[in-house]
Order: sequence, then structure tokens, then C-alpha cells
Amino acid sequence: MNIAIFASGAGSNAQKIIEHFRENKTIHVGLIVCNKPGAGVLKIAADNAIPVLLIEKERFFRGDAYVPEMNLHEIGFIVLAGFLWKIPDALIRAFPNKIINIHPALLPKYGGKGMYGMHVHEAVIASGDTESGITIHYVNEKYDDGEAIFQATCTIEPIDTPELLAQKIHRLEHQYFPAIVEKCIEKL
Ligand code: GAR
Repeated sequence: MNIAIFASGAGSNAQKIIEHFRENKTIHVGLIVCNKPGAGVLKIAADNAIPVLLIEKERFFRGDAYVPEMNLHEIGFIVLAGFLWKIPDALIRAFPNKIINIHPALLPKYGGKGMYGMHVHEAVIASGDTESGITIHYVNEKYDDGEAIFQATCTIEPIDTPELLAQKIHRLEHQYFPAIVEKCIEKL
């Protein structure tokens, strides 16, 4: 089973997933898909000798959504790890219940378009909430809307800033995401 990781940022979650499956006999990270030249995740892919597919908007949203490339690399499961574009219907149809996303908040709160990365943590801190967390969910045609698979929480202390909350959230993501990916694949 080959996984494609879609990521456009630093790629710390991609790194953890790659490490998790490095010795796995049946599950293999076969492709990193990225829409940002220069993103940190590209160096991680190079360091781990994983092929990269750099995608562009027009073909992703109005073309074939790169489904032929997924087939070429024999991808059977897609993990979104800090990927900010909406997933086009063509890709969802090609991978029914085989695309999962991680979101850095407790959905359905703080989800939707524009709610990513630090924007999420800033909104959470501004709200005065005393807890936040992560949500791992299946991807459907709407932003942050598919069936939830897993949530984990952390407390927010009065001294927490968006930056400190981001660190707590990253720790939760790194702790849980790779194992949840494995569980979802085992269920297929
Ligand atoms: C992660 O915190 C992930 O939850 C978030 O982007 C970060 C990527 O970090 N995703 C979203 O906000 C999606 N709406 P990373 O590049 O270090 O893995």
C-alpha cells in the first residue's frame, strides 16, 4: 500500500509519518504532493528519497486533479498533513473514504476556509476557550467537514499565546497522527 502525503508547509507531520512507516513491510510513503515551491516538506522528501509531485492550481481544480499521477505511483491512500487547498471532487471520487486530514482544533469549532495554521490558534486564544486539540477526519467535498475519526485535547493556560498553543498542538499531532493513519489503512 502506497500512501501519498499532501503537504504545503514545514512538513513536521509528514516527517513523523515517514519515520513511522520506514520499517513497515506493507505500508510505504510513496509520494509527497505539494503546491508550494520552497516548502520545508520538499527537503524532508529529498532527505528521505521520496518522489515529489509539485502541483498547480489550474490542473488540480479544473483538470484531472492529478488522478493519473496517483495511479502511476500506485497510491491507495491519501493523507493531508498541512495541505491548504480544498480537495477537488474528482480526487474524492477516485479515493472514496481513502483521504484523511488533520486539523489543529476541535472541529466543528474553528474549521472552514481560511482556518489553518496560526489563524486557528489566534482565533482559539482570542475566544478565551480553556481547551483546544486536534481532529483527524475523512475528507469530503467541503472544508473540514467529513466524518471525524479521532480527537485529542490539550488545556489552554492563561499564559498561553497562539505560538505556545501551536507547539502543544504539534506535540499532539506528532503523537497520534501516524498511528491513526495506520489504523485507517488497516481498516480498508
Ligand atoms: C498542522 O498543525 C496541521 O494541523 C495544520 O497545518 C499544520 C502543518 O504543520 N493544518 C491545517 O491547518 C489544515 N486546515 P506541519 O507542516 O509542520 O506538519
